[in-house]
Amino acid sequence: MARILGIESSCDETAAAVVVGGHEVQSNVVASQVDLHRKYGGVVPEIASRAHIECIHNVVRMALTEADCSHADIDAIAYTSRPGLVGSLLIGATAAKTLGWAWQKPLIAVNHVEAHAVSAAIDAESAPWPAVALVVSGGHTSLYLVEGFDAIRLLGSTIDDAAGEAFDKVATMLGLGYPGGPVIDRVSESGDAKAHAFPRTLLSRDSLDFSFSGIKTAVRYKIHGTGQTTGGLEQLSESDIADIAASFQQAVVDVLVKKTMRAVAQTGAPNVVLGGGVAANRALRKSLEAECQKRNLGFFAPKMAYCVDNAAMIAAMGFHMFEGGNAATLDHDVCAR
Ligand code: KG4
Ligand code: ZN
Repeated sequence: MARILGIESSCDETAAAVVVGGHEVQSNVVASQVDLHRKYGGVVPEIASRAHIECIHNVVRMALTEADCSHADIDAIAYTSRPGLVGSLLIGATAAKTLGWAWQKPLIAVNHVEAHAVSAAIDAESAPWPAVALVVSGGHTSLYLVEGFDAIRLLGSTIDDAAGEAFDKVATMLGLGYPGGPVIDRVSESGDAKAHAFPRTLLSRDSLDFSFSGIKTAVRYKIHGTGQTTGGLEQLSESDIADIAASFQQAVVDVLVKKTMRAVAQTGAPNVVLGGGVAANRALRKSLEAECQKRNLGFFAPKMAYCVDNAAMIAAMGFHMFEGGNAATLDHDVCAR
């Protein structure tokens, strides 16, 4: 079975992993930059690029060491070529190309969002296709029909904010810090999800697109007062904040589950797979799993380590592309979208 070195640098995580046969994860190293970006309340592209440069060499070396292998044992190098921050993508791509050229290994250019879409397959006993894949992250919220690792069709995506972006922005509004997803997940546990009826934006009857700006604005007005953009937060108690967080989370989860089931109804797919940073959200996992059980659908969610940005999913996807003969050339460019 081919052993793939994966490299991921599309946003604010520098990651490398060694994966055999698309399933056996021998190492999965992630250097997070979250502490560098926290004080800005979001990812600063220039800081991200510089941090990738500083640590990518060590991250790749650690991935090889933890997998107890050398470059001679690697069959191909898979890297994220799109989408993401261009400066960040360039660092990973250049590292992959340099190593590929020096070690004489084939290169595989992987689409980051498609890798999220198939990340639940890493630990699955057999490929869960055909499936509707819901990818929810800080940069993307999309539904796909996955019929194979090389047959991934976009069904719909967000027309404004990504789900993770909405979590991050609402957490900032509530004074909960950055990144917002994990803290809203935690704070919501003690809140009442029915305390506030935030809007569930479903767009047109058959639409598989998403919109989260309405929910976000409703939360803003709940905190600051209708039409206001500042003030009010200091008057909220800890339990008021927990209620708003839980009600917001429930509104987002309801929309994500509803649209996923709409995609299942439109495609007839027997399985649902989840992926992306927001796939770590416990309320979402629980709710989607319950809905799938009710409808007799298979449900596959990646383990937490494969939800947030990681290189194991890039190497796993890279394995299937390698098997399909999809090598990239040294002049293959990165792309933000
Ligand atoms: O996939 P990812 O690591 O990066 C992108 O490709 O964007 O996703 C990061 C996003 C952030 O917005 C973060 O707040 C969100 O995933 N996130 C969560 C949770 N853990 C991370 N959102 C909701 N609940 C969580 N437990
Ligand atoms: Zn991602």
